[in-house]
Amino acid sequence: MLTYNDIIKEDDQKLRERSIDVAIPLTEADLKLLKDMNEYLINGYDKEKADALGIRPGVGLSAVQLGILKKIIVILAFDEKGRKFHYGIINPKIISQSEETVYLSSGEGCLSVDREVAGLVHRSRRIKVRGYLYDFQSKSLNQTVSNLQDYLAIVFQHEYDHLNGILFIDRIDKFNPFFIPENSNPIVFEEEESEE
Ligand code: NI
Repeated sequence: MLTYNDIIKEDDQKLRERSIDVAIPLTEADLKLLKDMNEYLINGYDKEKADALGIRPGVGLSAVQLGILKKIIVILAFDEKGRKFHYGIINPKIISQSEETVYLSSGEGCLSVDREVAGLVHRSRRIKVRGYLYDFQSKSLNQTVSNLQDYLAIVFQHEYDHLNGILFIDRIDKFNPFFIPENSNPIVFEEEESEE
């Protein structure tokens, strides 16, 4: 079972390398990797388990964060409206993206960056992604084109960056970390909205 110690950190040069496509159908080894990554994210949502196992929670994980340079991502996240998105994503490619951007007011975090980094990351509000989606419930892998927007688009682009050797800290404006371009808006989560 994976723990936070298995995740490589920002001083590891592998995080700066490009990941490569994996063979479809998946080999047993790649499928096991996908399932281990998934298990890590699931355990992160269980506070007691996470504390006991030494797991720092996350909403997404890329294979490179385990030191394996393969285009494999797992996302387990709830969007701004509380809707669940839970897939393995294999060999993804962003085929189009909006000029309009969005950002998280609290900034981004990364399991491979074990420190607080202040600043905003602006990412395309809408993206179109081609790739293989693995459904953990039905255990099926299907080639798809998916449209993602807002929070899920941010999460996906963060993980996709990992496949290209990019970390979120690279995308923070060094001279003006809290700069907000004219075409960028914050993600507003519904539960935040209802708070007085
Ligand atoms: Ni990350």
